[in-house]
Amino acid sequence: MNCKRHLYAIVIVLLSFMLLQSCAQQNAVPTAAEQVKRMGRGVNIIGYDPIWKNLADARFQEKHFKIIKDGGLQTVRINLHAFRHMDDSTLTLEPNWLKTLDWAVDNALKQDLMVILDLHNFNEIATDPVGLKPKFLAFWRQMATRNKNASDNVIFEILNEPNRKLDAQLWDQFYREALAIIRETNPTRTVILGPPNWNSIHSLNELQLPEDDRHLIVTVHYYLPMRFTHQGAPWAGDLVNVSGVTWGTDEEKQSVVDDFQRVQEWALAHDRPILLGEFGAYDKGDMASRAAYTAHCARTAETLGWAWTYWQFDSDFIVYDIDNDKWVEPIWKALVP
Ligand code: BGC
Repeated sequence: MNCKRHLYAIVIVLLSFMLLQSCAQQNAVPTAAEQVKRMGRGVNIIGYDPIWKNLADARFQEKHFKIIKDGGLQTVRINLHAFRHMDDSTLTLEPNWLKTLDWAVDNALKQDLMVILDLHNFNEIATDPVGLKPKFLAFWRQMATRNKNASDNVIFEILNEPNRKLDAQLWDQFYREALAIIRETNPTRTVILGPPNWNSIHSLNELQLPEDDRHLIVTVHYYLPMRFTHQGAPWAGDLVNVSGVTWGTDEEKQSVVDDFQRVQEWALAHDRPILLGEFGAYDKGDMASRAAYTAHCARTAETLGWAWTYWQFDSDFIVYDIDNDKWVEPIWKALVP
């Protein structure tokens, strides 16, 4: 009898212990490395969609969040060209623009997708960083306050591809100020930021991060060799006149592996997980090469334990053909084999 009672007591103690532990785990803030694992495979969305001018004109519809999820992707990186939707004197974000953003975030979360809110005014800020700094900081103050109670699935990315006049030294000041504003209301939210010079893998050593902030993910973008990935692209200087460049020799493949390996060495040395935030090859290149390149970048990143977000769902480099309502099979299969 006594023995039985003892057994009951032990079982009850054990069960309570397990319950407590699972509650603690549920409330635990995910580490940056855990967030990278959860982000896995993803895609950039709606940066260039008319949705921001008028929800009724949107190309991207609610169903596309489910299509993305069912298509084997876990994350959307929402590219925000927010500056033109901020009042020039008060610096407040337009209510309609915020409504569209809420619509996008809510629908992504409903599909259990991870959401990266990526400020994408990189071109404007690179030509006038000092002039646009108040807008940049005001944007993050508003986003941080609005999202302070958002789930851990919502992640901030301070700025896409800092470049030109927003050089390494200025970027260091700018991101630290934005991060301090974010941390006032979001002390443990996962924040993404990358090296100067268009988030170049070669500029990682110019990125000095605050040692004590462990909720950071470092992002890099990869489009090398540009002559292949940007052939025919109107915004890529002389490359607009280039065509017929293929990709896929052993040497070319090795070069990607070597580049990623150097990033990995930096990541391990600094104990920071990596997001490959953009990669891909423009639509004008030959499809077999584009698919091979896309698959090779994605698999190499995965082997190293990185998350990735392909550039992009619609608009250009497309992986989904909205007009004909179907995946661009070779690119999709390259991303999700
Ligand atoms: C830019 C796009 C461009 C892509 C590849 C992105 O960061 O926002 O406009 O197409 O990089 O060059």
